[in-house]
Amino acid sequence: MIKKEILKVMSVKEIATDSYEMSLENEYISTHAVPGQFLHLSIPGHTLRRPISIASCNQMDKVVKVLFKTIGTGTKELSGYQSGEQLDGLGPIGHGFPIEDLKPNDSVLLIGGGIGIPPIYFLATALKERGIKLQFILGFQSKDFVFYEKEFNMLGETYIVTNDGSYGHRGLVTDLIPNVSSFDRYYACGPLPMLKAVKKTLAHKKGYISFEERMGCGVGACFACVLKTNDGIGYKKICQDGPVFAADEVII
Ligand code: FES
Repeated sequence: MIKKEILKVMSVKEIATDSYEMSLENEYISTHAVPGQFLHLSIPGHTLRRPISIASCNQMDKVVKVLFKTIGTGTKELSGYQSGEQLDGLGPIGHGFPIEDLKPNDSVLLIGGGIGIPPIYFLATALKERGIKLQFILGFQSKDFVFYEKEFNMLGETYIVTNDGSYGHRGLVTDLIPNVSSFDRYYACGPLPMLKAVKKTLAHKKGYISFEERMGCGVGACFACVLKTNDGIGYKKICQDGPVFAADEVII
């Protein structure tokens, strides 16, 4: 259930160029959030809340980690928060990645691009606990934007791609799909062009994709996040029906 909560800032760290990891204390969110869900944070002086991906939850410590990029004034202000300050957040929002039908030793490919990587990390930790074999392809703009490489390496085989070739493979995440070992399904989160390319390349595979879209209300009231589907209804809302969808359910 989505609740309006007060989250206490524990720390804010710049982990790569323009990329921040914020630790927040909140018992309800840390207990109930599942991989793929997000928070809708209110930043004073801004009308619209900002959708922010959850990268991990620690129930014991009541800590939720979120990662964001400073792409506008709102997120820039967010990066300036100090330990002890408070944020008003709605969450956890959306449907997470379906994982219940996976069995130990099943093999999964996870693909993330840019700020779509935090939910992939949260998902990876949950899958690892279930004994799932993991491989990752992670795409960044360039070397300076790479984050969490060590953390992913601890969970499975990790391939890094950068647009400019300054680190890892030069090109697109889809270039490396032929290099990975066989897998049972895939999960992907990232910018729309990346999701389109992944869906096309892996059309023969079962997969789930999560959308990183700018949102309005975040709770299904404004239609700012509508996506075409082929389920007979014709459309779904990313905030309310997603952000995770079966790849074959959406038209992108
Ligand atoms: Fe308003 Fe999704 S953001 S309906």
